[in-house]
Amino acid sequence: MNVTGIFDWSPATPSRLFYQSGGRRPMLSHGEGVYLYDADGRRWLDGSSGAMVSNIGHSNPRVLAAMRAQMEKSTFGYRLHFENEPAERLAGAIAKLSPPGRDKVFFTSGGSESVESCLKLARQYAVTKGEIKRTEVISRFPSYHGSTFGALSITGYDPLTAPFAPMLRAMPKVPAPRAYLDRDNLDDAARGLKYADMLRDKIEELGAENVLAFIMEPVGGASTGALVAPDSYYQRIRDICDEYGVLLIYDEVMTGAGRTGAFLAADHWGQRPDIIALAKGLGAGYAPLGAMLARGDIVDAVVSNGGFMHGYTYAGNPLACTAGLAVLKEIVAQDLFANTARIGALLKGRLEALMETYSFIGDVRGKGLLLAFELVADRETMMPLPREWNAFQRLVDLAYERGLIIYARRTRGGYEGDHFLVCPPMISTETHVDEIMEKLTASLDAFAAEFSLPRA
Ligand SMILES: Cc1ncc(COP(=O)(O)O)c(C=O)c1O
Repeated sequence: MNVTGIFDWSPATPSRLFYQSGGRRPMLSHGEGVYLYDADGRRWLDGSSGAMVSNIGHSNPRVLAAMRAQMEKSTFGYRLHFENEPAERLAGAIAKLSPPGRDKVFFTSGGSESVESCLKLARQYAVTKGEIKRTEVISRFPSYHGSTFGALSITGYDPLTAPFAPMLRAMPKVPAPRAYLDRDNLDDAARGLKYADMLRDKIEELGAENVLAFIMEPVGGASTGALVAPDSYYQRIRDICDEYGVLLIYDEVMTGAGRTGAFLAADHWGQRPDIIALAKGLGAGYAPLGAMLARGDIVDAVVSNGGFMHGYTYAGNPLACTAGLAVLKEIVAQDLFANTARIGALLKGRLEALMETYSFIGDVRGKGLLLAFELVADRETMMPLPREWNAFQRLVDLAYERGLIIYARRTRGGYEGDHFLVCPPMISTETHVDEIMEKLTASLDAFAAEFSLPRA
């Protein structure tokens, strides 16, 4: 075999990598706290924590030290051959931070894997109970649950699902509770119930005996831009699921591990989902790590009836779990739940204040440090900006040029509309909020000038 030059590389070497599209980005050098630096020394404030991942910031010395110490001992022990202490400790901590009874943990390496695990556990539980007709998993539109086939079948974001639609099992959808777009005479509480009752209608339409589960993001992620339902929505959804024997799955891949100011977003509404998907902030960028958390009785029923027919090679590996454990210790030691609630409220207030200057900001929403704003052509009708402006990309680029990273998607199911997630790490301070606002304002000014947009 000719191995000559296989490791040769210089910055001028054409990239062999590809992801969603071509195009080059600056070469990452290092990260520190809320900042990322490229090889030329340019600095960015990581205002989206990557993809809402780097919750405790970059290069935390205590997490790195814990990982280094673990690496000296073992980096991998296959879960069918060995138990390992970091995995046991992390599972224990996750269960203790979660609602009572949600006390069994299954590790994965990321969000899509966690969601797949939830679907499979739900299905096996139904089979165990003899409810074999239960196969329909209802989800919301828009929504995002991951890129693998099972997760895609419950994702409501057409550009991502359309090419694969003929290969997917079409799963039923109900509208996401985007009450901020409604122009009716209902109050907030009535709107929440209106959206929740759409789940009831869908279950009735499908036949309850065919419905396995309902899955939702308690605070929306990239597909809706930090969508928060009216308070009344959450308990009504729980009641409907209970009434029809439908399992309630919370996808907390983005919201979980502290991002909204509580360990789970479910905590804000005192909710107890049956199964929960976690990832992103659990490993917080230090290791690929996800988890499924489930009711103990569900897991016991499945495991004692032939076992859970599912698993991933890297699941529960000691290095990833050590990272997760150290991240969680850092969150607890610094009380980053409280900091997230406090700085999140400050940042949200500052974003809301932007609406006084920029009439093309139609909505500001979110919880904790999972925040977003949406651009519109008309605040009254909430009509989106012209699609061909590609505002969702343009404003991100303008901010990037100014040293601020924000995260954007099309709002209306991927077709049109533009929202921007502003989700800095949970360690952010007032000074960081000032810097975010200064750079964001400069970017919005440039955007407004480019498209001749009027000020309020
Ligand atoms: C709510 C939600 N679920 C699932 C996923 C998929 O996670 P991953 O990209 O780690 O597979 C994501 C990722 O953005 C997400 O936001």
